[in-house]
Amino acid sequence: MALQLLLCAFLAVVGAIDNGLGRAPPMGWRSWNLYGANVNQSLMQRIMDGMVSKKRKVDGVPTSLCDLGFCDVGLDDNWQDCKGGHQYHYHDDAGIPIINRERFPDMITMTSHAHQLNLTSGWYLNNCICSEQAATDSMYQSDVAALTVFGFDAVKLDGCGQQQDLDKWADLFNKTGRPIMIENCHWGGTVPNATWCPWNFFRTSGDVRASYGSIVGNLLTTVEWAQKNLSKPGCWAYPDMLEVGCQHGPGGAGDPGLTFFEARSHFSAWAIVSSPLTLSLDVNNDTVMDAVWEIISNKEIIAVNQAWAGHSGSPFKQADSYVQLTDFNMEMKGAIIPHNSQVPSWQFFYKPMGGGKIVVLLMNHDSKAQDLTLTFSDVPGLSCQKCKVRCLYVHSDLGEHDGTFVAKGVPSHDSRMFMLSSSGHAAQKDVVFM
Ligand SMILES: *[C@@H]1O[C@H](CO)[C@@H](O)[C@H](O)[C@H]1NC(C)=O
Ligand SMILES: *[C@@H]1O[C@H](CO)[C@@H](O)[C@H](O)[C@H]1NC(C)=O
Ligand SMILES: *[C@@H]1O[C@H](CO)[C@@H](O)[C@H](O)[C@H]1NC(C)=O
Ligand SMILES: *[C@@H]1O[C@H](CO)[C@@H](O)[C@H](O)[C@H]1NC(C)=O
Ligand SMILES: *[C@@H]1O[C@H](CO)[C@@H](O)[C@H](O)[C@H]1NC(C)=O
Ligand SMILES: *[C@@H]1O[C@H](CO)[C@@H](O)[C@H](O)[C@H]1NC(C)=O
Repeated sequence: MALQLLLCAFLAVVGAIDNGLGRAPPMGWRSWNLYGANVNQSLMQRIMDGMVSKKRKVDGVPTSLCDLGFCDVGLDDNWQDCKGGHQYHYHDDAGIPIINRERFPDMITMTSHAHQLNLTSGWYLNNCICSEQAATDSMYQSDVAALTVFGFDAVKLDGCGQQQDLDKWADLFNKTGRPIMIENCHWGGTVPNATWCPWNFFRTSGDVRASYGSIVGNLLTTVEWAQKNLSKPGCWAYPDMLEVGCQHGPGGAGDPGLTFFEARSHFSAWAIVSSPLTLSLDVNNDTVMDAVWEIISNKEIIAVNQAWAGHSGSPFKQADSYVQLTDFNMEMKGAIIPHNSQVPSWQFFYKPMGGGKIVVLLMNHDSKAQDLTLTFSDVPGLSCQKCKVRCLYVHSDLGEHDGTFVAKGVPSHDSRMFMLSSSGHAAQKDVVFM
């Protein structure tokens, strides 16, 4: 028994990258959904300012996004100079990355700006815009050297160029001696197993779009990783950035934007599957921020995301009838293609919180309002027959209920998130994770 526990502890360590980072799902902001390719240093620095200086009330207390935990600000594609004139695209003949100095006059000033604000700062490599069709050792080494000199703390390794060797990247970052948070963005193409995960979080899907169908489509790509217990501390499954507060982004017609209810369901869904929470909205636009502040500042839901009690969160029950949603996904050649996907009319997710508490998310995928009936005995690991129900949207206890709880008239694409617990101290029943 003791030996087994020891072995388990050992496997838990070797199963995830050993850089000490991402023990809880990372939280921050990244430039792509807001700016796409139209990003530059002054825009990035203004976002950094906004993450810290823009405060809105949470429980009466002025609170910034970084106060809530969103403290990493990441630069996405298009920092590079694509002009060419060399044998490679955005690396010179020696393999050194070429910065577009018109857009990014001084990367060190930019990362120092973040650090002065107590933020961390993320970079982006293996770029898609003018992607490299070669991958030399010198390119890997020079990219890592540049990241170190510039002072970045995190990196997104995209899937477009030929620098696809994630072991090699992890090894080079490790050798710098400074922990770097690594995102594997291979759209589900490079995935972990029980003993291998040389990154802190991994994309499970193509790019998400600001539409409900796309949100649900990407969400469901996390399920197999939860079921295999391969989304866990230090190695999180990631269905892409948040589209909360985003519209008319790089997806064009695929980015119509989300209603308040859709944005709330999106944020809650990413939270309950323990996804990294990466905002990509204009934090300095008061219209946008006022509209979604209630969603992204919900501390109880952020706590659900950050908790770990052995299972990253997954569906446990769904309707027998299906509805069609228009999904949008990126084809390799860059075209964003709409297609219909069939999803259950409603779907319930759960995540254990420890101490016998379990959170559930009841999602209404249908185009009309419906009552959603939760039967406590369906919830994996929940021991109570009479359970206390707390609503995490309105922050209130809804009392004790016997056997079931009915969420009445949940609007189309809206959801309800409840914390369930027993009133007594009944032992947790055997957990069958799904
Ligand atoms: C999943 O893996 C984590 C970390 O390795 C471990 O703590 C947890 O107990 C595992 N859960 C299950 C259900 O095996
Ligand atoms: C490098 O890897 C070793 C072995 O896994 C680990 O102990 C160390 O903390 C890592 N260092 C960094 C900076 O990631
Ligand atoms: C960044 O973009 C903004 C908005 O387009 C522009 O006003 C600003 O001058 C640009 N800054 C740099 C350094 O290119
Ligand atoms: C940054 O963090 C340090 C240490 O916690 C603190 O002393 C300092 O006031 C913080 N600075 C800002 C700008 O928040
Ligand atoms: C996990 O994947 C790595 C890298 O592909 C491979 O070397 C290793 O054998 C795999 N381990 C298992 C248990 O499948
Ligand atoms: C702020 O967002 C609103 C709603 O999307 C938009 O109409 C407005 O143009 C934005 N303002 C600025 C300054 O970007």
